[in-house]
Amino acid sequence: MTASSAALVPQDAPSIEVEAAHHAAAVEALVDRAFGPGRFAKSSERLRETNQKLDDCSFVALRGRTVIGSVRLWPVTIGGKPVAFLGPLAVDSEQRSAGLGQALVEAACEAAAKAGWRAVLLVGDAPYFSRIGFSSAPAARVVMPGPADQRRVLLKALVPGGDEGFEGRVAVR
Ligand SMILES: CC(C)(COP(=O)(O)OP(=O)(O)OC[C@H]1O[C@@H](n2cnc3c(N)ncnc32)[C@H](O)[C@@H]1OP(=O)(O)O)[C@@H](O)C(=O)NCCC(=O)NCCS
Repeated sequence: MTASSAALVPQDAPSIEVEAAHHAAAVEALVDRAFGPGRFAKSSERLRETNQKLDDCSFVALRGRTVIGSVRLWPVTIGGKPVAFLGPLAVDSEQRSAGLGQALVEAACEAAAKAGWRAVLLVGDAPYFSRIGFSSAPAARVVMPGPADQRRVLLKALVPGGDEGFEGRVAVR
């Protein structure tokens, strides 16, 4: 950034950046605050606890050096076919409704597409994620590794037809 363009950016404007190792503790604290103690009971957690996140597809929202939002992607398979699994997505309660959640999901999906992933899977609220291109229809035959409301199992294609033909159990890759 040049000195003149830096002058145009408000000091406290949030930015979206790839998550670095030094953000991890703040991300954990943010996700704990957003989801509470029940977060580890979710079936989504079964796909994360023995997995390693996709470092190039996991992002933080920062205000200055403070982590105010986070999204992570994970490598999983559905019936043996690879797919990127998104979650958790969290934005600090003081910073919501400014588009950060959507911007984080879009950054993660764009990075996943660049990395060659064909689709992104998540478990979440369809009214929110349908605005960002996720749909329950192509995920009707996707089986989470634990109890999950099937209407909340959502897929987004990253390439034409990329969300088609997924069937079977979701497993750590
Ligand atoms: C969901 C979450 C990440 C959204 O972050 P955000 O930065 O506020 O998101 P955006 O600014 O892109 O979108 C905000 C809009 O989505 C709406 N919205 C938020 N959660 C929603 C939900 N579960 N269902 C439907 N709409 C929702 C908000 O009301 C807001 O609407 P408005 O623009 O009319 O005010 C944030 O509310 C959060 O961290 N929640 C707790 C954790 C969580 O539920 N994560 C997602 C689980 S998969």
